[in-house]
Amino acid sequence: MREFHKLYYNSAFTNGTFQNTYWLGIPAFKCPLDLWIYQEIIVDLKPDVIIEAGTAYGGSALFLASICDLVEKGEVITIDIEEVDERPNHNRIKYLTGSSVSIDIVDRVKSYIGEEEEVMVILDSDHSKDHVLEELRVYGNLVTEGQYLVVEDTNLNGNPVCPDNGPGPMEAVKEFLENNDRFQIDESKEKFYLTFSPRGYLRKSR
Ligand SMILES: C[S@@+](CC[C@H](N)C(=O)[O-])C[C@H]1O[C@@H](n2cnc3c(N)ncnc32)[C@H](O)[C@@H]1O
Repeated sequence: MREFHKLYYNSAFTNGTFQNTYWLGIPAFKCPLDLWIYQEIIVDLKPDVIIEAGTAYGGSALFLASICDLVEKGEVITIDIEEVDERPNHNRIKYLTGSSVSIDIVDRVKSYIGEEEEVMVILDSDHSKDHVLEELRVYGNLVTEGQYLVVEDTNLNGNPVCPDNGPGPMEAVKEFLENNDRFQIDESKEKFYLTFSPRGYLRKSR
């Protein structure tokens, strides 16, 4: 499995696999098996708000919004430091421009969440350990009980890909969980064996 993971991930650098994956014609930098897991989580837990840090072209936000359409519930707030022309318009998607950890962005995100609303979070922006740890601290508080906080790209730094990456999402998760007992790693979400988020599906206890 580790060898297949490396083959699949590294093929992207010759323009294959996850860098050549589209949802309704929009690039979505994802392993489709993880998208399928997102579909199962959304159908199961029906969050009111899904916060995504890291928009890129908007393919993953559009995927999430499409599933929200099918369950007739949910909005997607997606954040990126870059503006990209021609991101998909969708009535369930709100685009915010700025750093996911800036006070202004965090305040704006909070202002869009109603008091009783259920919140899921997906972290897919800057994959350095320090940034992800900061996101975990900020957005971990916004995730509501029973919902998921997904840390993507925990496969970096030799887990099993990009061994020379340096500390990244996996190391951030480890440190976050050492000081936080509200979240548990849900390994059942790794059931397809290939996931870009090993030990990254964190569920907030009720
Ligand atoms: C891996 S891409 C996101 C891919 C997208 N979620 C998808 O699956 O198609 C990472 C994105 O994070 C953005 N980014 C980098 N640093 C950021 C930060 N501090 N805050 C928000 N976004 C950031 C980059 O501009 C880039 O578009």
